[in-house]
Amino acid sequence: MHMHKLEKIWITIGIVTLIAFLSTVGIQAFTSDHHKPPSDLTVIDPEKVQETAPFDEPGLKELGDNKYELIVVLQSFGFTPNDIQIPQGAEVTIKVTSIDVVHGFQIPGTNVNMMVTPGHINSMTYTFDEAGEFLILCNEYCGTGHHYMSAKLEVI
Ligand code: CUA
Repeated sequence: MHMHKLEKIWITIGIVTLIAFLSTVGIQAFTSDHHKPPSDLTVIDPEKVQETAPFDEPGLKELGDNKYELIVVLQSFGFTPNDIQIPQGAEVTIKVTSIDVVHGFQIPGTNVNMMVTPGHINSMTYTFDEAGEFLILCNEYCGTGHHYMSAKLEVI
């Protein structure tokens, strides 16, 4: 069967457009990280959290130059440590992980809000400019003790 030249051109354009479209969708699917928790950095064995640095020594660590690191381990239904003092104005990188189920790490009155999934280290940096007492709350339903899961944070 003889095809008109014009028909061939249109079919070619159609196929090229289709391939371009499919590869764009394909690349997006590969590079998209929507299914991961935000700012999810590293993986960790949830069974060995207490033996794995830096979670083997939870708490506030001074890194120098007004920079601090706060290591917190979450489990049903509490935070370790659960009574934290931070010097006013400190720039704190908070690193969290869970040893059991999905928890949340939220400090109302700040923009600190992270999902804490077992097997992952989540992290964010916040500067505590205002002195006062803050609450750390779990904002992901994690079981019967969820509503009591909280910790105290003082900026002094
Ligand atoms: Cu932990 Cu809700």
